[in-house]
Amino acid sequence: MQIAVYPGSFDPITNGHIDIIERTAQIFDRVVVAVAINEEKLPVFTVEERVEIIRDAIRHVPNVEVDQFAGLLVDFMRQQQSNVVVRGLRAISDFEYEFQMAQMNKQLYPQMETLFMMTQPEHGYLSSRIVKEIARFGGQVDQMVPGVVATQLKEKLQTG
Ligand code: PNS
Repeated sequence: MQIAVYPGSFDPITNGHIDIIERTAQIFDRVVVAVAINEEKLPVFTVEERVEIIRDAIRHVPNVEVDQFAGLLVDFMRQQQSNVVVRGLRAISDFEYEFQMAQMNKQLYPQMETLFMMTQPEHGYLSSRIVKEIARFGGQVDQMVPGVVATQLKEKLQTG
């Protein structure tokens, strides 16, 4: 049984993330979407909200589950009995950070492999940060995130 872990902040999940999850689920027997608990990043959505939203958004994919983790990703991987991490890559600008994380994780857990999946061109411009910024200033994000995310972003970010 090949298990892949797809970790991230997912604050919030975007259609780009969902595309990576769907494609990863076609390659692996099981995919664990792992929501990182990192309160230092001052998230807009709580971890519980993010987990619930992702479960709802990927319920059409049977071999995917959603979990949360605190601490090191490598410890979570061992716990899940997985040594494969999947990360999406949009542009060269992502590469340096991803390369550093992949190498550091490999040092901490030598059996671990990081696989990069290229984002579909139509999602190449998407990021959780930009989606939040657009929503904060009243822009439309309906085409970029699942419906429930668009609704909740409006409620949380539009003060006026
Ligand atoms: O969606 P993000 O914010 O790019 O995801 C980053 C994430 C959560 C995958 C990364 O920060 C992480 O793995 N955090 C857990 C703590 C850890 O293991 N840090 C060392 C990484 S080399």
